[in-house]
Amino acid sequence: MTRRIVRAVCQLAALTVFSIVVVYFLDSRFRVLPSAIHNVMPAHHPGLIITDITVTQCSSVNLLSSCKLDADLWHRIEKDLFLGSGWVSSAYVHVQRKKEEELLADDKVILDVKVGRLDPSSGQKGQENERWESRPGGLWLKRSAKRHASDSAKAITAVDVLFGADAVDPRPGWETLDHALLLDKTGEIQEARVSVRRGKPSPPAKGIPRIRDNGKFKIMQLADIHFSTGTGHCREPEPADLDGGKCEADTRTLNFIGRLLDEEKPDMVVLSGDQVNGDTAPDAQSAIFKYAELLVKRKIPYASIFGNHDDEKTISRAQQMELIETLPYSLSMAGPGDIDGVGNYYVEVMSKGSSKHSALTIYLLDTHAYSPDERTFKGYDWLKKNQIDWFKKTADGLKKAHEGYSHIHMDLAFIHIPLPEYNNAELPIVGQWREGVTAPGFNSGFRDALVEKGVLMVSCGHDHANEYCALSPDETGNPALWMCYGGGAGFGGYGGYGGYHRRIRFFDIDMNEARITTYKRIEYGNESELARKIDEQIIVEGGKPKGL
Ligand SMILES: *[C@@H]1O[C@H](CO)[C@@H](O)[C@H](O)[C@H]1NC(C)=O
Repeated sequence: MTRRIVRAVCQLAALTVFSIVVVYFLDSRFRVLPSAIHNVMPAHHPGLIITDITVTQCSSVNLLSSCKLDADLWHRIEKDLFLGSGWVSSAYVHVQRKKEEELLADDKVILDVKVGRLDPSSGQKGQENERWESRPGGLWLKRSAKRHASDSAKAITAVDVLFGADAVDPRPGWETLDHALLLDKTGEIQEARVSVRRGKPSPPAKGIPRIRDNGKFKIMQLADIHFSTGTGHCREPEPADLDGGKCEADTRTLNFIGRLLDEEKPDMVVLSGDQVNGDTAPDAQSAIFKYAELLVKRKIPYASIFGNHDDEKTISRAQQMELIETLPYSLSMAGPGDIDGVGNYYVEVMSKGSSKHSALTIYLLDTHAYSPDERTFKGYDWLKKNQIDWFKKTADGLKKAHEGYSHIHMDLAFIHIPLPEYNNAELPIVGQWREGVTAPGFNSGFRDALVEKGVLMVSCGHDHANEYCALSPDETGNPALWMCYGGGAGFGGYGGYGGYHRRIRFFDIDMNEARITTYKRIEYGNESELARKIDEQIIVEGGKPKGL
């Protein structure tokens, strides 16, 4: 306790010094920022050039201390560098920016940014003539008058803030600076990192999912990766004593996913919810960028839906989707605004070659989070009637176009929370049922809608230690729908249930035979276990669900 007090006194002393710096930058009128600037995502207008960057730190105990600079001059990036958990202070990055066509010859552009204690030019041979300007937070700017800037393609055109030692930025032209901002922080707050874009913004690469020339298409389902802001904490890692018990959740999860991406070479990845781990992910953007980077680097298209944890302690589903939609190789879409949830959409996987026909349709729906009527229906929320109506209408609308495909067109679906029908011990299953099925208490009829529209397989996440596929029959007992679990992949989410190894499910699709094979791969084991396809089974043959 005494150490905390000493620390607080030191912090206050540091703040007093800092306030002098802060006041220097402050507009005396303390103008309030227009509300439009309060968007959580900084707006990046094409054609803007950054002309200055600074950091303000302010005290939450000293009312005269403010983190807002003159809004006519400075744009504040709306992310507290202490993630809202600084004991006595907040801090923000501010930028000055100008429309490119309004830059005067003497206006400065920023050619480089670094973070560090020392002037980057000191001790660097041949760079003695470079002039770096110092800013708070250990920022160094290399600026030049526009008329002298020989290479304006290098000029900084946008600035953002990310968090954590493992922060990455998958957006085209963006780069996260090597060093964290030097802030007077205490405790376990994730380090703040500046990310910058150089040159003109280029549109993100689009991945068009398409059946390979050999008629095959492989989907990797990433269920419950539970990424944090920063490397996160492992929950029930298996085995627990690996590497002497040191376990960074996201590092281990990223290594696992990376290995299987390289070995299995999927054509598409579905992230079936709980990508962002509630409590430990106050900055969802940093968490989302980590999985995106892994896939963007390998040019693999990916589609995301949300789970119950994604928006617990951070920006909303709508804001996250707005961000995800702009990332390279992203197939994700918010979907219609007049039905419940964010992320109700479908992805058409095109036939091979340059065909304009869809071979596979993948429906993705938002299963929300917790029950809106806990007294009547305990536990989790359910798919709403307007979502199911949207699904049926969409499936009907696509039917005619799908008849143009030369082989058997197939439909699949992904959701986060299991359907009530998963919770039926009578059904034949392949794989492990290790924990209770936490399906909603109210059955809104999505399983029946899927069967009615001829969807062959639905896969969910949510229950990390359940990793089975169950066969749901029709009234006459014939196979009607395979209902699978992905199996939890992330070390930031719970494991347990008697030594559960994280795993990842694949769907290997062969359009020549209208066949779907599924299997899982595990994170830990000896060489032969690591290479093994676990519970490999054919769930669809000749375009029909196949019985056991
Ligand atoms: C791998 O482990 C399994 C038991 O989990 C064992 O049956 C098998 O022989 C082992 N293989 C090798 C190559 O060590």
